[in-house]
Amino acid sequence: MLFGGCAVNSFQAPTGTRDILAPESTRFKTLVATFANLAELAGYGLVISPMFEDSSVFHRGVGEASDVVAKEMYEFDDRGGRRLALRPEGTASIARAYVQHRPQLPWKAWYATPAFRYERPQAGRYRQHHQVGIEALGSNDPDLDVEVINLLTHYLTAIGLERMELRVNSMGDSTCRPAYVDALSRYLGANESQLCQEHQRRWKANPMRFLDCKKPDCVDLKSGAPRLSEALCIGCIEHLARVIEGLDAIGIAWRRDETLVRGLDYYTRTTFEVAGLALDSAQDALGGGGRYDGLVSQLGGPATPGIGFASGIERVMLALEAEGNEKNVTQVVKAFVVDMTDGSAARDLTSELRAVGIGADRAFDNRSLKAQMRQADRSGAYLALIVGPDEAASGEVTVKELRQPTDRLDSQGSSIRVKRAEIATYIQELKL
Ligand code: HAM
Repeated sequence: MLFGGCAVNSFQAPTGTRDILAPESTRFKTLVATFANLAELAGYGLVISPMFEDSSVFHRGVGEASDVVAKEMYEFDDRGGRRLALRPEGTASIARAYVQHRPQLPWKAWYATPAFRYERPQAGRYRQHHQVGIEALGSNDPDLDVEVINLLTHYLTAIGLERMELRVNSMGDSTCRPAYVDALSRYLGANESQLCQEHQRRWKANPMRFLDCKKPDCVDLKSGAPRLSEALCIGCIEHLARVIEGLDAIGIAWRRDETLVRGLDYYTRTTFEVAGLALDSAQDALGGGGRYDGLVSQLGGPATPGIGFASGIERVMLALEAEGNEKNVTQVVKAFVVDMTDGSAARDLTSELRAVGIGADRAFDNRSLKAQMRQADRSGAYLALIVGPDEAASGEVTVKELRQPTDRLDSQGSSIRVKRAEIATYIQELKL
């Protein structure tokens, strides 16, 4: 059947997007829950803001010179003629929400959100990806930078990642950066013909992006370029020194990376990124962020410093997979009821078990024993709870081990009869 010119049964998720099904989505949920817990332990409150904004929030906040705004934003007019954009990132929305509501400072917010960027899709790079992140507004204190960086590394460690590297830099501020950008622009202008093709076209719009260009032509030119670290003012030098002292004091390993200038225009002073060493280096950022002391005033609010980061959930899941470490998927369905009577035992038993917090599932449609056992196995449950005519008559359930941790089951072999009235307590005591 044709519908709007395409066959109805050929619909697919749009290019660059994907459906995340269980069990992958279970891992996704665990990542968000772990993040939420750590953020709230540190005093950050959840902020849920609209997925689309007046597009000027991003034009002004994230910046015209960034790829995210210049080339990748999903922008459209709504039916009322308003110019809107799907959120390409979370920080500008949080800053806009601050300007609108003016909560007490310091304001510490966390979020979990989809983000939309019209990028060339590839492994680890999507047109809709998902981020967890935090933003802390209202303090210039470098110890806040340490708190924020600590949260990112703590989160990544807590979910089981091991192979990663934290890179830290300072991008200077309004005191020292303009002179540096002038010096860099003079250098790039004098060497324009040797830049990579993209930067020959684009260096004037955002000269600092040259510093993180990976193309051989630009890489070759970098050694002769003025160094940002040598141009920092005393305020930026002292700020960075205190951040580094803090990271060392709490035992967070880091590496200075002078090319870490990040792709969004709002950054000032501290920038940082965690690279996943098990991932392909083109797409290895597990999370990144930095200070944005001018963003709130850029969006019409009073001068208010801020710092935060976001971490891509899909990237982190890829890194867990690449490290062969997916241990954080917990098996929620512990028991699968196999009913060889008329289905009422399955109906009643699953209801009873779920009511006391034991994950339980069942088959429907009076399927054969073999089919139900196959489904039980596929469910990942540790136990099959079998009720046939025999068990029904004696008021019992046959508990059969399906998989580890089976050694906790005090049975002679692979199955045991348990009184129906005691089954919930029996399973609870196994602590599966
Ligand atoms: P970002 O570096 O653009 O920063 O994105 C944050 C993270 O989102 C990246 O480190 C990466 O893990 C993930 N990510 C970005 N783009 C994609 C994509 N196309 N597909 C899959 N994953 C992706 C920001 O968005 C800033 N708002 C972070 C921030 C918060 N800075 C200060 N506060």
